Amino acid sequence: MTAVTRLSLTDFRNYGALSLALDGRHVCLFGANGAGKTNLLEAVSQLGPGRGLRSATLPEMLRKDAAGGWTVAATLANDQKIGVGLDTGSGAKRSVRIDGATATASDLAELVRIVWLTPAMDGVFRGGASDRRRFLDRQVMAHLPDHGRAASRYEQAMRERNALLERGHVDPAWADAIEARMAEAGAEMAINRAHVLEALQAAIETRPEGHFPKADLALEGEAEQAALRGDDFKSIFEVLAETLRTTRRRDMAAGRTLSGPHRTDLATIHRPTGAPARDASTGQQKALLIGLILASASALRAGGDGPAPLLLLDEAAAHLDPDRRAALFDELCDLGGQAWLTGTEAYMFEGFGDRAQRVRVDDGQAVIEG
Ligand SMILES: Nc1ncnc2c1ncn2[C@@H]1O[C@H](COP(=O)(O)OP(=O)(O)OP(=O)(O)O)[C@@H](O)[C@H]1O
Ligand SMILES: [Mg+2]
Repeated sequence: MTAVTRLSLTDFRNYGALSLALDGRHVCLFGANGAGKTNLLEAVSQLGPGRGLRSATLPEMLRKDAAGGWTVAATLANDQKIGVGLDTGSGAKRSVRIDGATATASDLAELVRIVWLTPAMDGVFRGGASDRRRFLDRQVMAHLPDHGRAASRYEQAMRERNALLERGHVDPAWADAIEARMAEAGAEMAINRAHVLEALQAAIETRPEGHFPKADLALEGEAEQAALRGDDFKSIFEVLAETLRTTRRRDMAAGRTLSGPHRTDLATIHRPTGAPARDASTGQQKALLIGLILASASALRAGGDGPAPLLLLDEAAAHLDPDRRAALFDELCDLGGQAWLTGTEAYMFEGFGDRAQRVRVDDGQAVIEG
């Protein structure tokens, strides 16, 4: 099982110094509001690609009043030692270490994969397309860590295109070059998204029926639909480049790029009712979201070419009735990766029995209680 067996923090959020020796079972963090439970999940999320569970910048995670940087170090069940940190020595950069040696984020991504669910995601079906796109891209990054780099290249090129259009007088050769970079990164993004959407839908089909309803997913975006039809990179690239070329005048009037993978939406149908997820009740949406996250974790495992993911579930148990909670714990135990859960009270985790460790969190301290 993929598991963290020791977690050590220095100057991370409200933790000055913490060293938590774990036995590899699931981890249930409990304690009062503001104690530091979500901060601990955020610390674990740093071990994966991207900015982690709160999308915070490196300095934001530094403990207030601390001098220097922060570190999050973990020992895995296979005895590998990994660590990430804010390294202030060389200009506030993220540092990565594996077994004592300097490593890259890509090296780390091969060792640990992480999926999370936070209360901030609760509004994903009701919110705007950008919320769902971010949710989808988060899952895509867990599956394909290079996705983040393609998205950054796309954003950078789009900023350049927008700046060019804003000037009102476009040099066609210059625009062609910028748009080719957008189309190249955009085609990669679309293919990644289509690939992960298919993996998610396949994982949804194999999940047990019952407490967490199934979803029917679709991607609303020209390039993604082409990728889902099986079009190859070259033809998706060409379609994107052609669209950008022919919409310069419109986009110049709008002051920004109006179409492309940065506008893609994830459409979700709540299968039991057949209605769009945005129309489902709050509880139905929450259960649907938990089902999606479980499917994402199980899709990572079904991919077969990497470790089972760690699952970080912030306040997921609190809103569930005891039967649903027990069903969640059972599913987590079948996934093969360690799950980290938070709640204000230890009783919420009774259904785990001896399959999980309880950790009391209190004002930047964490103590194992059995
Ligand atoms: N950079 C920082 N330095 C020091 N303290 C911080 C920093 N960032 C956040 N905190 C503090 O960490 C505390 C704990 O936050 P956290 O979100 O982990 O609590 P929690 O246990 O999840 O609470 P809740 O049950 O309300 O979700 C907060 O009081 C917050 O002010
Ligand atoms: Mg919290």
